[in-house]
Amino acid sequence: MLVSAEEMLKKAKAGHYAVGQFNINNLEWTKSILLTAQEMKSPVILGVSEGAGKYMCGFKTVAAMVDAMVDSLGITVPVALHLDHGTYEGAKACIEAGFSSIMFDGSSLPIEENVEKTKELVATCKEKGISLEAEVGSIGGEEDGVVGAGECADPEECDRVAKLGVTMLAAGIGNIHGKYPDNWAGLSFETLDAIQQKTGDMPLVLHGGTGIPDDMIKKAIDLGVSKINVNTECQWAFQKATREYIMAGKDLEGKGFDPRKLLAPGAEAIKETVKEKIKLFGSDGKA
Ligand code: 13P
Repeated sequence: MLVSAEEMLKKAKAGHYAVGQFNINNLEWTKSILLTAQEMKSPVILGVSEGAGKYMCGFKTVAAMVDAMVDSLGITVPVALHLDHGTYEGAKACIEAGFSSIMFDGSSLPIEENVEKTKELVATCKEKGISLEAEVGSIGGEEDGVVGAGECADPEECDRVAKLGVTMLAAGIGNIHGKYPDNWAGLSFETLDAIQQKTGDMPLVLHGGTGIPDDMIKKAIDLGVSKINVNTECQWAFQKATREYIMAGKDLEGKGFDPRKLLAPGAEAIKETVKEKIKLFGSDGKA
């Protein structure tokens, strides 16, 4: 059964560790992440962007697949199925489709409109037992067509949105989706500290988990980050292993062209990445 992310994140905040959100793209991705979380006895959040949802034939298909997979793989660790960077319409569609967690990304809207729409979704999500993530400030870079300038969040605005009753809050602190440029200034711990002081117990979310040095991740967790999103790093792991398989000519040997063989090295590589992140975030053994 899919669960809301509320309890796992409350526990993470209190226990000073973070739960990973790993984005999924297909059946292989989902299976690799679920099996690894189970092996590590870690709670896990499966992230689905609107683009990935469309690719996987719509949110209903995704919810049905994940729900069935949790059951047939015998997964007993808590699993939340979460819409990543949702629009208002996307959020409503995912609630309808059976997602257990939603992100409404109103960060590109004027703050008043972000607050109004978030408020409305808080009421719906509370009624249905679904966790809700809001965003203030923006995550830099691009993910599935969602482009952000990367400005740091205003702690006052974070406090205002946190008080609406959301479950978790994503705040821009200089983080970027995808590869960090060589001249990246690093995370703004000053901003994060100010946000945490204002928002207290609210679990904070760090997007753009790919490529952030381990010491910065640990410091961010110390300063109240309880959920960390990773997407690109799993894509790179999959791509690298698949490329190696083909470059070594393995797809031409015997039945190496069988998709179950062709996709296996990539799927295994994702498991390794997820394992490393779960250890780094400290959520292993916490389920
Ligand atoms: P990365 O692709 O940089 O890991 O970011 C993932 C993310 O923040 C999903 O919302």
